[in-house]
Amino acid sequence: MAPFVVNMLRSQLLTSIPYPTSDFSGQTVIVTGSNTGLGREAAKHIVRLNAAKVILAVRTISKGTAAAADIITSCNVPAERVEVWALDMSSHQSIKDFVKRSANLDRLDAAVLNAGVMSYAWSEQDGVEQHMGVNVVGTVLLLKLLHPVLQRSAEHTGSRGRMTLVGSGLMNTANLSDFKTPGSILDKFNEQDNIPIGSYYRDSKLLTFYATRHLAELSPVAETNVIVTVQTPGVCESDIFRDDAGLLKSVAMKASMAMLARSAEVGGRTLVHAVTPDLPVDAHNRFLVDCQISDGAPGIDNEEGLAIAKKWNKEIFELVDEIVGGRA
Ligand SMILES: NC(=O)c1ccc[n+]([C@@H]2O[C@H](COP(=O)([O-])OP(=O)(O)OC[C@H]3O[C@@H](n4cnc5c(N)ncnc54)[C@H](OP(=O)(O)O)[C@@H]3O)[C@@H](O)[C@H]2O)c1
Repeated sequence: MAPFVVNMLRSQLLTSIPYPTSDFSGQTVIVTGSNTGLGREAAKHIVRLNAAKVILAVRTISKGTAAAADIITSCNVPAERVEVWALDMSSHQSIKDFVKRSANLDRLDAAVLNAGVMSYAWSEQDGVEQHMGVNVVGTVLLLKLLHPVLQRSAEHTGSRGRMTLVGSGLMNTANLSDFKTPGSILDKFNEQDNIPIGSYYRDSKLLTFYATRHLAELSPVAETNVIVTVQTPGVCESDIFRDDAGLLKSVAMKASMAMLARSAEVGGRTLVHAVTPDLPVDAHNRFLVDCQISDGAPGIDNEEGLAIAKKWNKEIFELVDEIVGGRA
């Protein structure tokens, strides 16, 4: 925990995040969860950087339309440069429909998988806890289905694709014993009271990190011409802390946010960096922190973590295959 806190303080207080300047001319980019927060700021930067089309993938169309209007006005660009598409990350059908629509694009150069939830309240839909449904299963399904779309586009345009998962440095604080079970890891998380609710967010980010890394390992850039990364924006002001966490926690959180947090605009820059057209190939399958390739994550990449990752990746990709095949 101590190295995590030191690194976090160094990152939040002493590191400046570069203003994005790379040119996205002619490119099409998807940003999920972009009606607000970091996603909206990232989309705004990418429009400003001349992207031909930025797709705001949102669960509530009216919120997406309002964000699009704000981006179009502030960047002073023609309205057709920003599109709003429906995507509910808690619905497998919505994700499949979204990918089908994406496959009909003339090109798709980059995707920022940003949509996510953080909550201190138990919430489930059809027996699936919300962090597991949105941050984990929905996100891995989208990652798996969108990768071939980016790959086909890269083949066709000759322009290297980029896909990033917006993760969190909090995954480094996960307690690996949360994942210990003789059976299914998801089943353990989908049953209330097995794990403290406050651990779900960081645990969900770790599970998605392991899955993204597995997909990246199986999809080398030399074969696919698509760079896959996980990145963290650091601690940023946004709507993510919208939940009522109780009085004490809320006061503590507000105080630490005031001291530490980046603005959503600055956080959004890190998302843009992770899909920038000149992202180096050696970023593939790496965790990006402060717009840099990080050294790794010793606390979660030890023998125990790697054994969990192996078991987990088998479970989640089998489930994703069942969802794709209509069997789950
Ligand atoms: N802020 C931070 O300090 C921080 C730090 C590390 C990582 N992150 C990560 O950064 C990403 C963006 O978070 P943020 O801070 O910008 O939070 P935010 O302001 O709450 O934005 C989250 C976005 O995700 C969308 N979303 C949630 N559930 C969805 C669903 N089922 N289907 C589709 N979209 C859904 C939200 O849509 P609605 O508005 O409709 O709810 C919203 O657009 C998240 O993955 C978060 O975990 C944030």
